[in-house]
Amino acid sequence: MASPQRVGFTLRPLAPADVDSAAALHQSAMSYSFNSRLGKKHLAYLYSLLRQDETCLVTVAVADEKILGVVSAISDPHRFKEKVFSSMPLTHWMSLASRLMIQPSVWFELLQDRKMNQPVIYKNIEIKPMLSAIAVDASARQSGIGRVLVQAVDDFFRQLSQPFYYLDTRVENKTARAFYQQLGFVEHECRGRNLILVKEL
Ligand SMILES: CC(C)(COP(=O)(O)OP(=O)(O)OC[C@H]1O[C@@H](n2cnc3c(N)ncnc32)[C@H](O)[C@@H]1OP(=O)(O)O)[C@@H](O)C(=O)NCCC(=O)NCCS
Repeated sequence: MASPQRVGFTLRPLAPADVDSAAALHQSAMSYSFNSRLGKKHLAYLYSLLRQDETCLVTVAVADEKILGVVSAISDPHRFKEKVFSSMPLTHWMSLASRLMIQPSVWFELLQDRKMNQPVIYKNIEIKPMLSAIAVDASARQSGIGRVLVQAVDDFFRQLSQPFYYLDTRVENKTARAFYQQLGFVEHECRGRNLILVKEL
């Protein structure tokens, strides 16, 4: 089998003009996720809020002005969720409600999402900082982009003097599990079909 191509890329913070491309990449790489199923416009709204919040990080990997990877991280997900809910305009709420009506299976995702809202306790400490999403374009995987995006998250939380952060992934996502284990995450807890992993910095 041919070895994967190495891809030249640079990292930078998500700019306003990148928001739609980042949302599209997120949706194509993680189509199963609750936020993806609420639509590209909703994802773009979340990315816009994330990039404007100094307690959050959104970094993109870019080559020839194309976004090949995106990672996001949130210092306090509970506070960020409250911010999302309190800032969403009525038209946005109405469009989410209509999505929920035409895709009843999203309710199941909503129930799963509630399970994930329980605190993550590791070594007797509640861990709040989280890596909320990472996606690399299918054409550029296994070129080291994901690794460098995770390093950007490590640096961000180190600067905030956070000793740990967590993330969740699907139990059946073998690629993601191999990737995270390679990058020093520990598989900590299973919640339904999701797995919580923790990284010590
Ligand atoms: C998971 C994902 C972000 C990895 O990004 P990537 O840029 O391909 O990863 P990297 O090239 O930086 O790989 C780093 C290490 O992870 C491991 N890894 C990556 N892809 C792997 C695969 N398909 N199988 C086994 N190990 C893999 C390797 O050990 C690799 O190190 P090496 O290249 O030195 O051997 C990417 O596959 C992706 O976007 N998947 C779809 C979205 C997703 O599942 N996101 C996570 C949801 S929580």
